[in-house]
Amino acid sequence: MSFLGIDLGTSGLRALLTDARGAPLAAAERHYEVSHPAPGWSEQDPADWVAALEGAVAELRRHPAWPELRGIGVAGHMHGAVLLDRMGAVIRPCILWNDTRSAAEAARLDATPQVRELSGNIVFPGFTAPKLLWLRRHEPDAFARVAKVLLPAAYLTHYLTGAYVADMSDSAGTSWLDTGARAWSDTLLRAGGMTRGQMPRLVEGSDKAGELREDLARLWGVRPGAAVAGGAGDNAAAACGTGVLSEGQGFVSLGTSGVLLAARDGYRPAPESALHSFCHAVPGRWYQMGVMLSCTDSLNWLARITGTRPAELTAALGDRLSAPGRLRFLPYLSGERTPHNDSDIRAALTGIGAETTRDDLTRAVLEGVCFGLRDSAEALRAVGARPAHLLAIGGGSGSRYWLRLLATVLNLPLHLPKAGEFGAALGAARLGRTAATGEAPETVMTPPPIGEVIEPVTALVPAYEAAYARFGPAYRGIRAVQ
Ligand code: XUL
Repeated sequence: MSFLGIDLGTSGLRALLTDARGAPLAAAERHYEVSHPAPGWSEQDPADWVAALEGAVAELRRHPAWPELRGIGVAGHMHGAVLLDRMGAVIRPCILWNDTRSAAEAARLDATPQVRELSGNIVFPGFTAPKLLWLRRHEPDAFARVAKVLLPAAYLTHYLTGAYVADMSDSAGTSWLDTGARAWSDTLLRAGGMTRGQMPRLVEGSDKAGELREDLARLWGVRPGAAVAGGAGDNAAAACGTGVLSEGQGFVSLGTSGVLLAARDGYRPAPESALHSFCHAVPGRWYQMGVMLSCTDSLNWLARITGTRPAELTAALGDRLSAPGRLRFLPYLSGERTPHNDSDIRAALTGIGAETTRDDLTRAVLEGVCFGLRDSAEALRAVGARPAHLLAIGGGSGSRYWLRLLATVLNLPLHLPKAGEFGAALGAARLGRTAATGEAPETVMTPPPIGEVIEPVTALVPAYEAAYARFGPAYRGIRAVQ
């Protein structure tokens, strides 16, 4: 028996084959582009995702365990709108999570009575519902043809099964779902100008959404009847991959966007804090997370303008954590979600002196990002989510300096998984497994073995605490002058 996890990311697709016990056997990746037809716009052609999936599958088919494929799960970047007509054809390119064209529609919808209450979240410009309101106004012909709206992962699940099905975790990011009731809300759909008929059927991420299409099974050389899971949004899938299912467990992901996520046993939304409160990909659980939009992107920016690579910048700092400097970086290169919900704000760098070096800039950028993540940690603490440690995942977790700094700023130990698979692709494969076998999610979605624990540098905690205390007022200061 084998399982396939598919992680449809923003820059590429990763497909992971595991054995019956969930141990990784082989992985394949394919990359694709994001197009930016206008400032703030961000789109992708769903046909590129299908081509990437088929390319990855062609590679994985060489593995001897491939023909025994029994379960598949798809995880995807959240909030994107794939618009299908009555014949199931894609109407226009998918508008992505990081597209800000619908900021005005989002603000209007967010101010509509009951919207925050029912969805449990602020309507952020990246979410799905405002995209459709934008379409209604700016591309009315396309809007009139919309028979179904699918999120990116649900589109691939549709490609695999032929069914229109979406999972709870991804659907919670649409602003059409009653997140507490785990059901489409007629009130929210009405507010967004949509109908129930345009929505896919809802399933739990770990349940079966359908079976692999017979023609695909033949083409792929697998036995007929493989189960396809409901799947998940990428962060919920990463939580499944890292075993973050229960109260007290959490992770920090240092990726393009930075995410601080805590699993919750119950539903306690707090939209005013700009925390995201979403259904988990397993039944009866939720999660809350703070999202910062420019995490590794901040370091990438510095690398770009200094003509170097991010890893070189962090390597130059060595491993020993310095005390906070006078230089301040406010990491809002593309606006911010948590805690400010401010898509207009832009980054700032203050305190530059004639003596400032490139290493000082690197330290300031890393500090700014860590303080931004501390904002999310504070918001989570305020709603009672207090993990005693966090798993650290994502590209940024390769830098020791950064990890030590983050542990110190959060005053929490960071657990680094041993090298191996523990991300969204593994989470997706685990969802495929539970959908196929009916095993309890808790027995399948276990934490990875830990390779190292990064402790806060106790002697520097008070200095970083004081620097963090100046970080919030700095936002208000630059807001006033921008
Ligand atoms: C979550 C979010 C991002 C995307 C892209 O709300 O917008 O994490 O899912 O990864």
